Amino acid sequence: PLITSSQKEEKKLILPKSDHLILDNTSFPADFLWGTATAAYQVEGAYKEDGRGLSIWDTFSHIKGNIKNNDTGDVANDFYHRYKSDIQLMKDLNTKIFRFSISWSRIFPDATGKPNQKGIDFYNKLVDELLANGIQPFATLYHWDLPQYLQDKYKGWESKETSKAFGDYAAYVARNLGDRVKNFFTINEFRTFIELGYGAGVFAPGLKLPEEKLGQVRHNGVLAHGLAVQAIRANSGADVKVGLADNLSIAVPVIENEKNIKAAKIAMREINASYLTVILEGKYTENYLKSFGKNPPKFTEEELKIISSPLDFVGLNVYNPTHLIEAADNKLGYEVIPFAKSFPTTTSKWEYIAPEALYWATKHVKDIWNVKEMYITENGSSSTDERTADNKIYDTDRISFLRNYLTQLQRATSEGVPVKGYFYWSLMDNFEWTSGYSITFGLYNVDFKTQKRFPKLSAEYYKEVATNNKVM
Ligand code: NOJ
Repeated sequence: PLITSSQKEEKKLILPKSDHLILDNTSFPADFLWGTATAAYQVEGAYKEDGRGLSIWDTFSHIKGNIKNNDTGDVANDFYHRYKSDIQLMKDLNTKIFRFSISWSRIFPDATGKPNQKGIDFYNKLVDELLANGIQPFATLYHWDLPQYLQDKYKGWESKETSKAFGDYAAYVARNLGDRVKNFFTINEFRTFIELGYGAGVFAPGLKLPEEKLGQVRHNGVLAHGLAVQAIRANSGADVKVGLADNLSIAVPVIENEKNIKAAKIAMREINASYLTVILEGKYTENYLKSFGKNPPKFTEEELKIISSPLDFVGLNVYNPTHLIEAADNKLGYEVIPFAKSFPTTTSKWEYIAPEALYWATKHVKDIWNVKEMYITENGSSSTDERTADNKIYDTDRISFLRNYLTQLQRATSEGVPVKGYFYWSLMDNFEWTSGYSITFGLYNVDFKTQKRFPKLSAEYYKEVATNNKVM
């Protein structure tokens, strides 16, 4: 495990001599929860079944050339029909929590605003089956599959009408599932669906808006989050908890000395200005607003209050670091530095292997915003995952990835950073957005022709971790 001598020093200072953690440096808090994650469009399939309406990802994936090999999520993992056996896979891993997302257009398929009973019934059945198997459901309300009619009618997230519609949808879900689902995440990864979908045009809906319009889209996104938090609270019991799943930018002090750590803390608020900072602080940073010149996003004080509605926990999707160093001569006080060309990546070339990201993400969120409860809502790696003739997958790189990242997570929890659980992305290989089925993150390999699932060696590793509650 990647324990540096300075980390060892730190632990010695914090923990009493008799504490067993000094000896093993591997255990997690006794009530720590282990789980896996998926998202509706990536696994469910059944895209026209039981009255489901189309989403922007159905439209986008059906346009030739948008997705590798022109793959679509029409069938995906057929989770819609196979959820029962997939829950057995979660059980086999000895995991106790599962994060899935709800398909908005299954529940509100068209512009009439009339809910589709069969849509909510699927999630009723899924939740009941999870609970019957001793697995706590954690539901994400938005994992990028916006109903197509909202894109057509309001230009999607360009309009506050979409934010309001999201609040209504959240209220309906909370009323129907809140008696059994005790943990909700509003929105998954603002940055990805907004910057890639409305900015770079490579994700649905494929738009390339200029920066000043993007500022408004971002604002409408965080406003939707705030409206959903309020709607969930108003439509469920006091035991229901709510947060978000954000892929925050993670300022990692490459050299962990005092001045770089200080610079990293300053950087965190700025590089997350449009999402996490405004959500946790209720205001945009001056630098962020200035960056728009004469065309800042339009918003009211009242909206800032909604956006910063108190949360029960913060979920963090952790993949990459933003490396930086202190820069005294620079107005901001820090400088973001580039990745070396030789910096190791996984098969998704955007994903750098930098385990410290997991430590610094959680540590900063606690230190800067005093957040009392966190989950790692995603972390995982893609590998080549060759299947042998006898259907074995020796994904030793994924095991090594996990061991190193979890060592850094344990470093955080042993210092008292309040992380309550970890969801590996993903339970099984699935539709990886524009990469189609060519990039694989699962603990289970899926043969998409037969829908057979095969455990990878990392599934065995993760089961050991979940069972022993320690880095193995
Ligand atoms: C983040 C996203 O939330 C998820 O949908 C995606 O598959 C993983 N990262 C891997 O790219």
